[in-house]
Amino acid sequence: MKFFVDSADLDKIKQVADLGLADGVTTNPSLASKQNKPFKQILDEICAIVDGPISAEVTAVDFNGMMEQGRKLSKFHKNIVVKLPCTEAGLKATKALKKEKIPVNMTLVFSTNQALLAAKAGAAFVSPFVGRLDDIGEDGMKVVEEILQVYKNFNFDTQVLVASVRNTEHVLKSALLGAHVCTCPPEIILELVKHHKTDEGLKKFLDDWAKKGEKI
Ligand code: G3P
Repeated sequence: MKFFVDSADLDKIKQVADLGLADGVTTNPSLASKQNKPFKQILDEICAIVDGPISAEVTAVDFNGMMEQGRKLSKFHKNIVVKLPCTEAGLKATKALKKEKIPVNMTLVFSTNQALLAAKAGAAFVSPFVGRLDDIGEDGMKVVEEILQVYKNFNFDTQVLVASVRNTEHVLKSALLGAHVCTCPPEIILELVKHHKTDEGLKKFLDDWAKKGEKI
């Protein structure tokens, strides 16, 4: 499973990249709005440190605006993937951008049916928002499971990119289900390495070694 960093914070992305765990990055208008620099600068800086798919979302809601912004974003760097919302205009633009060999990450997906349409439109990635589904009492990971089954049934090559990840349980379930990608806030990725028994065991090893009074 690939890990994408769900952030526009360069320092945090670099921290994950330094661990070799940044296979790509996803941004969205809310994440970008938290950074006090132009969007193109954010993307240029991210592309300079992560050699993988970098999702950049349009802000247009109409077909023509999505096409204009999608083409513009795609020209920023070879690794840019254009993020489009799962709407009628988004599906139409996905199909059109696919013909221009511009990869699309269909975002704001909340149902298996939406993911089916995204695949049929030719999206390179589909982003089911599991955290936001859980927030409304639905089962986000169940939707991921269904999407993976539907994609397998029809041999779609759209990659399932689990998004809106809120905890390490979402990561584990994504891996158990065989999701292609999990995009996580940097903090979640960094949390994956932690276990209290590891810290406890390391302390015991070092305490015991210290009694030996020897250096390696
Ligand atoms: O990339 C999608 C992700 O950023 C949404 O996460 O936590 O705002 O639902 P969240």
